[in-house]
Amino acid sequence: MKPWLLLPPQVAHQLAPLGLQLAAAFRDQPTYTWRPFTWRGLRFCNRLGTAGGVDKDGELIEEWWKFGPGFVEIGTVTPLAQGPNEGKIIDRDVKDGAVWNRLGFPGRGAWVAKENLRDLPILKPTPIFVNIGKNRETPNDLAVRDYAQCISILAGLADVFVVNISSPNTQGLRELLQPKNLHRFLGGVLAAKNKSSSPYTPILLKLSPDLDDDELRTIVEIACELGIDGFIATNTTLARDHGSPFPPEGGVSGRPLGARSMAVLKILLQTLGTAKGDKLVVSAGGVMTPDDVKARLDAGADLVQVYSTLIFEGPTFFERVCHAMLTD
Ligand code: FNR
Repeated sequence: MKPWLLLPPQVAHQLAPLGLQLAAAFRDQPTYTWRPFTWRGLRFCNRLGTAGGVDKDGELIEEWWKFGPGFVEIGTVTPLAQGPNEGKIIDRDVKDGAVWNRLGFPGRGAWVAKENLRDLPILKPTPIFVNIGKNRETPNDLAVRDYAQCISILAGLADVFVVNISSPNTQGLRELLQPKNLHRFLGGVLAAKNKSSSPYTPILLKLSPDLDDDELRTIVEIACELGIDGFIATNTTLARDHGSPFPPEGGVSGRPLGARSMAVLKILLQTLGTAKGDKLVVSAGGVMTPDDVKARLDAGADLVQVYSTLIFEGPTFFERVCHAMLTD
């Protein structure tokens, strides 16, 4: 029974935090342990976590922990609070397992995220990734400043930072990912992190599934030259399958994204080759079943993230995956 699927998508989206809080009140699941993994001193009891956007402000971390993920990501966090884009912002197609959104980084800003992270117990059951972005009004040539501000405010509270320049819902944001702009932008962000009070916190770059394969290789090479610590592949897509019910703007996630996200993962791993070393590779996009989680890990991902399947299946997806892994 998934009563939330009977609600209009936007209402379900608004009520989801409350639903999670209620469901979490009846649970006390310690983090599931399967295929444990340690990276740069961070201990992951399992390989499956929540993706960017699931908990924009870090208000629900303790609730998510009760469902047993191996790590959680908060954000995208922007320096200042901002509302969502105007008009319709979320929709879904239950038959195709697809979600469409054009939220545009709504959130309460980096200072509120900081308070939420500070309120957590000292002993945390999982690593916490903090996904950072720029405010809508900040022009691209000042974007480094917004990312640097997020890093300076949240330094010491994030186990890993994720640089998001791959969302399709902030106008012009993806231009920063273009090879001609990436050097200056990412170089600036990494320099800001190195000068911050937590210079050793790893930074990952989140990739777009809409890059062509050559662009993707070039971007991965540039990011590695600059000293990136890993990648998340991928964000949502602007591509539409034939007959898609969604408008052309906005990002699609869920099942229709699966094949491209897997292809991007493979190109990413090929490009890294023997230079992968201890770079972290996280796969996201169209992971809808325990078999999909296995397939991404078998392809070489270190970790896997989900969002859309949580909308359709609910938070007990982490339990299903654990059972599947332990009975494999
Ligand atoms: C997202 N995603 C996302 N990504 C990100 O880096 N920052 C964000 O704020 C958001 N917000 C967001 C909202 C909604 C409603 C959705 C559905 C998605 C993208 C997400 O993290 C993930 O990369 C994609 O959704 C692909 O994974 P799934 O959904 O196919 O498992």
